Amino acid sequence: MNDAVLGPTLLRPFDTSRAVRLAVTTWFGIAAIGHGIFLAYILAVFYPPIAQSGLHGLQGLEHLPAGFREGDTLGNLAAVAHVLLAAIVIGGGPLQLVPAVRRHAPSFHRWLGRSYLLAAVISSVGGLYMIWTRHSIGNLVNQITISIDGVLILVFAFLALRNVMAGRIAEHRRWALRLFMVASAVWFFRVALMGWATLTGGWGIDWESFTGPFVYALGVGQYLLPLAMLEWYFHCQKREAGHRAKLAFVSTLVPLTVFMAIGIFAATMGMWLPRI
Ligand code: HEM
Repeated sequence: MNDAVLGPTLLRPFDTSRAVRLAVTTWFGIAAIGHGIFLAYILAVFYPPIAQSGLHGLQGLEHLPAGFREGDTLGNLAAVAHVLLAAIVIGGGPLQLVPAVRRHAPSFHRWLGRSYLLAAVISSVGGLYMIWTRHSIGNLVNQITISIDGVLILVFAFLALRNVMAGRIAEHRRWALRLFMVASAVWFFRVALMGWATLTGGWGIDWESFTGPFVYALGVGQYLLPLAMLEWYFHCQKREAGHRAKLAFVSTLVPLTVFMAIGIFAATMGMWLPRI
């Protein structure tokens, strides 16, 4: 067998486009499981007290210090709407991204899409209201970094909607994926925080005041890193994307996925399960 035949096969032992697809599908599968666990937590912890006591339902919840204020009906309404609609954002986001759902149940995809968009918008307006009118954990840096996420959600929701209404489906898909990344940033935050605490013992985190270099970095990293990875993925999907770019993408996504899996486990065991 001569080198001309053997060479390319040896130099390129596997298809890098397939590797990208495999890495992204694995990442998505694990992220979807993690979203499912957070959804179960939201349904179990917030729905029963709200169903029982309405606007007073979030009163006295230790892990939700900004959830209830006596006499502040508008703020309590914002908090209740925020956690109720969080279920649609966290549960609906991954479902919207499953190609089989889009293909086999297009009307369900449209209805869930509208609900998801509305829930994300109301949830972030409620979140913005709470963060600037009530004292929550952290300081001004935390307030600003999460507010940027709230504004990004509103902007990306508008762009996803405008493009689908104009029939620009490829653009719509890109903005909808960006919206998913920023609407799920609060999930990335919890998972990365607990994963980091497990691996480093909590370096850069002051748990008392909920401040510190890692908390600040994660404040912006919760949406900037997922958005950066998404843009890189878009690049890898282009015809002109080289094997090196794809290989570098896979080599970055795989360790991030392992870290995410550790974080999901840590958040489930250390944060969500104990509160149920
Ligand atoms: C749309 C995506 C969002 C989802 C799915 C979401 C979800 C949640 C959930 C489940 C909680 C309850 C806390 C917990 O048990 O983990 C919560 C609390 C809260 N969220 Fe969000 N959130 C989102 C966006 C935002 C944004 C953009 C802001 C601010 C700009 C925000 C501000 C808050 C505040 C202030 C609390 C109360 C924290 C406290 O009581 O100290 N959220 N959120």
